[in-house]
Amino acid sequence: MELDKYDQTLLNGEYGETKQKMMEILLALGKIYEAEKFIEVKSVQVSGASFKTIGDAGLSWLNSLSGKAVVPSFLNPIGMPRDEWQDLGIPDEFAKKQLEVNAAYTRLGIRPTCTCTPYYFNIIERGDHLAWSESSAVSYVNSVLGARTNREGGPSALASALTGKTPYYGLHIVRNRIPQIEFHIDDSAATKSWTSAHYGALGIIAGAISGNWIPFFTEIRPNRDMLKSLGAAMAASGAVALYHVNEITPETRFPFFKKHIEEDEREVVEIEVSEIDELFGSLEADVIALGCPHVSEEELEELAFLMENRRVVMPFYIFAAEEMRAKHPDLCSRIQNSGAKIVPDTCMVVSPLMDRAGVVMTNSGKAFTYLPGMCKATPLLGTLEECVRAGCGE
Ligand code: F3S
Repeated sequence: MELDKYDQTLLNGEYGETKQKMMEILLALGKIYEAEKFIEVKSVQVSGASFKTIGDAGLSWLNSLSGKAVVPSFLNPIGMPRDEWQDLGIPDEFAKKQLEVNAAYTRLGIRPTCTCTPYYFNIIERGDHLAWSESSAVSYVNSVLGARTNREGGPSALASALTGKTPYYGLHIVRNRIPQIEFHIDDSAATKSWTSAHYGALGIIAGAISGNWIPFFTEIRPNRDMLKSLGAAMAASGAVALYHVNEITPETRFPFFKKHIEEDEREVVEIEVSEIDELFGSLEADVIALGCPHVSEEELEELAFLMENRRVVMPFYIFAAEEMRAKHPDLCSRIQNSGAKIVPDTCMVVSPLMDRAGVVMTNSGKAFTYLPGMCKATPLLGTLEECVRAGCGE
C-alpha cells in the first residue's frame, strides 16, 4: 500500500503505541482488500458499545488503549440510558460494567452520544468518506445520503477514530456502488399504502435474498423513515450496506449510475405483496418496543399524535437518541403522559430490558430479525398505529 508521511509516522509509533497498533489493524485490513492507499475520514461511528456484546474481554481491551480520537467520533447505542437506568430495573452489575465501557470510550475521545442515528445530528454530505460501523447507520448514510463507508467492525472503526484514516476499498470507490440485484413488487399499487413496518418487512425478505449484494428497487416510493426501515432490515437479514431506489436515492440520478442501471445485466427478483403481508402476525403482545433504529422527529410527532388521550396497559418503550429527546421535550411529554417510556441512548436488542420479554411487538424489521436470537423473545410485527393500539389494549 502507498503510505503518506503521516501514515508512516503512525506506523513507526511516533504517536504512541495505541495509534501504532490501530494503524497496523487498518494496514492489515487494507492488505486483505488490496487497498492502494489510505484516505481521510470525516467522521466515525463506533459499535461494540454495549457490555452485553463486548463483555469483560472487550472492556479490558478498551482499558488497555490510550490516545484520543482525531475526527468527530460517536458511539453506538448501549444497553441502558446513561442516566435514569435505575428506574428501568437494569441489574446493578450490568449497569456498573456498562458505565465502565462508556468511560473507556470517553477517555479515548469518542463522544458518548449513544445512537444508531447520528445522521440526525451531524451534517453528512454526499461523497463524504466515513468509517461507520452500525449496520443500519451505514446503510442510511451510504444509500439515503450518498456518503461512502464500508461496514466497519468495532475495532477498525475505533482505529479510524484514533488515526483519522481508513483503507480505500469497497464502497469508498464509486465503481463498487452500482446495483447488483434488482427487486420488483408484483403489485406496485399496493405499495402506495405501505408504512415503515411494511418497508421493514420488505427489507427482511430482500436482505435475505441479497446477502451482501447491492439491491436496486424500482416501483417503490418510500419517504426517509421508510428508507431507514428498509435499509436497517436488509442489513439485519442480509449484510446489505448500500441499496438504491430508482429516482429516490441520490446516486440513481447521476449519469454514471443511470448508464449502469440501463446497460448492466443483473438478477431480477419479484417479491409478492402477500409475502410482505404474511410477516404481520396476530399474537397477543406482552411488550411494545419502537425505535429500531432510533426514532426520527417525524416518528416522534406521529407517536405524540397517536398517543393523545390514550393510556398504555403494558410496558411500552420508545428508543431514541438523547439529543432527540432533549430537542423535543413537548412531544416527549405528550407521549409519556400515556405511560409509555422514552428510553434514551439504548439499543433495544442489546439491553437487558428485552431479555425473555415474551411477545415483543415492534414496527421494525430489524428488531423483528434480531429479537429471537439476541433476546430470546418472540417478535411480532405491526404498523406504528397497530403497536399503539395493542399497547393501549385496543
Ligand atoms: Fe439501533 Fe439497536 Fe436497532 S443499534 S438499529 S436499536 S438493533
